Amino acid sequence: MATAGAANDDAPWDRFDSYEYFWHNYGHLRHDDQKIIKIVADFFLHCFDRAQPGKSQPRKLANAIDVGSGTNLYPALTMLPFASKLTLFERSHSNRQWLIDALVKPQATWRDEFWDAIATDRPTYQTIKDPLDVLAGRAWVTKGNVFALGADKYDLGTMFFVAESITTRYDEFCKATEHFVDSLVSGAPFAAAFMCRSEGYFVGSTFFPACSIDDADVERCLAPVARMSQIKRVESDDLRDGYSGMIVATGWKR
Ligand SMILES: C[S@@+](CC[C@H](N)C(=O)[O-])C[C@H]1O[C@@H](n2cnc3c(N)ncnc32)[C@H](O)[C@@H]1O
Repeated sequence: MATAGAANDDAPWDRFDSYEYFWHNYGHLRHDDQKIIKIVADFFLHCFDRAQPGKSQPRKLANAIDVGSGTNLYPALTMLPFASKLTLFERSHSNRQWLIDALVKPQATWRDEFWDAIATDRPTYQTIKDPLDVLAGRAWVTKGNVFALGADKYDLGTMFFVAESITTRYDEFCKATEHFVDSLVSGAPFAAAFMCRSEGYFVGSTFFPACSIDDADVERCLAPVARMSQIKRVESDDLRDGYSGMIVATGWKR
């Protein structure tokens, strides 16, 4: 078990059991992820389709980042129509290898369930006929640490279940959130998801730390660096014990 007060450096990230985490969380599309997809895909459409009235594709494709991708491809898929390059930025060796393998040989559910949820009723997404091939051509799996991310580099970003799920320390939760947003250029849109009041989580037999936060904490950490579109609670209670739903934040870097 992680000790109370475990910092990000204390957890065994390279021993993250990617396959266990994938099957438990993303083996099939869950109702909570479906709600998050709606919020995030509609927000990105609002940002990019509005920038190009009457056009289904934005003129300039973004340099995008997904921080702490783990074994989750759907944040990257929500950015796909708007990005020419997608950096999948990940600290864990096992998760980087999983991502490399999944880009070459993706599990069918990413297309049949997740992309279907993203693209249905969204013509801009439907212009991409083979999303997993397009993703493989645009995505770069990169070793990195959110606390060392450089500033003002990316035009679009996502970070799902990372800042609060990599440490028990509130200062690190806030710092990770700020670093993610700060890695974007001014005015860039982003989406971030958080577990609400998480007590930590097992992946296989290994326990990983979490910081117990709620909507007000997300708002407090984002306020100095972001202009918000919305911070919304998404109901979820059947993933595991020890959390109180999920939180999605969308906005723009100041
Ligand atoms: C709870 S998982 C979330 C994975 C995925 N984004 C998702 O939506 O399920 C936390 C992820 O953050 C990664 N991580 C841990 N510390 C990190 C750090 N300092 N910088 C970047 N990623 C980190 C872990 O390896 C893991 O993939």
